[in-house]
Amino acid sequence: MIILENVCKSYRSDGRTVEVIRGLSFTFADGGVYVIEGPSGCGKSTLLGIMAGADRDRTGRVEAPPLISVSYQNSVLLPWLSCSSNVNLVLGGRRSTAGQAEALLAELGITEPGLMPSELSGGMKARAGLARALAYPADAYLLDEPFANLDPATAEMCAAAVLRHTAGKTVVAVIHEGTAPKNFAGTTLVCRGSPLSALIPK
Ligand SMILES: Nc1ncnc2c1ncn2[C@@H]1O[C@H](COP(=O)(O)OP(=O)(O)OP(=O)(O)O)[C@@H](O)[C@H]1O
Ligand SMILES: [Mg+2]
Repeated sequence: MIILENVCKSYRSDGRTVEVIRGLSFTFADGGVYVIEGPSGCGKSTLLGIMAGADRDRTGRVEAPPLISVSYQNSVLLPWLSCSSNVNLVLGGRRSTAGQAEALLAELGITEPGLMPSELSGGMKARAGLARALAYPADAYLLDEPFANLDPATAEMCAAAVLRHTAGKTVVAVIHEGTAPKNFAGTTLVCRGSPLSALIPK
């Protein structure tokens, strides 16, 4: 489970305070697949960072399993490694002689795993980042806009790959309103409030 209890978050910069999350509580069930929908700037990425434990500058209680894999909204591929080496990074000792990284990349439509990040389009970079997140054997997968900037067919292909590689695990995917691929079945939660104060099942 991922438990959020009365979570509050403000950013402070240049003497200004921006309150983004106020008193948010929600429990994500083990093995559940969730889509969080909300408009740009409402605090979705901020919330994922808090759930991932990457952002501890907040108040309230956050309980999450120990192994969490995150795919970021902006590609964070290491630029000096090829796509397959970026994926292999998280496979650790189980580094694939069987071509696990290459197979995963191909499932997401990247058929040239030797390409460097600088040789990829924006959408390909995002999918390579998604492949790396899926390769990591985690308890929960937090995916920030995993299907953004993809045509519908590619988005559905990626959605199928996400569901295949996260079966039985908790998945929380953040998307812009109404852009979830048709085959990405899950509980849709709508962001409510400004500051964000509730996730309401749709
Ligand atoms: N590091 C930061 N410092 C100050 N303000 C920030 C910071 N990061 C985000 N914000 C502000 O917090 C609010 C929420 O940002 P966040 O990135 O969580 O939104 P989002 O819902 O993910 O948006 P999008 O759909 O565009 O990705 C915005 O008003 C943003 O300007
Ligand atoms: Mg965001």
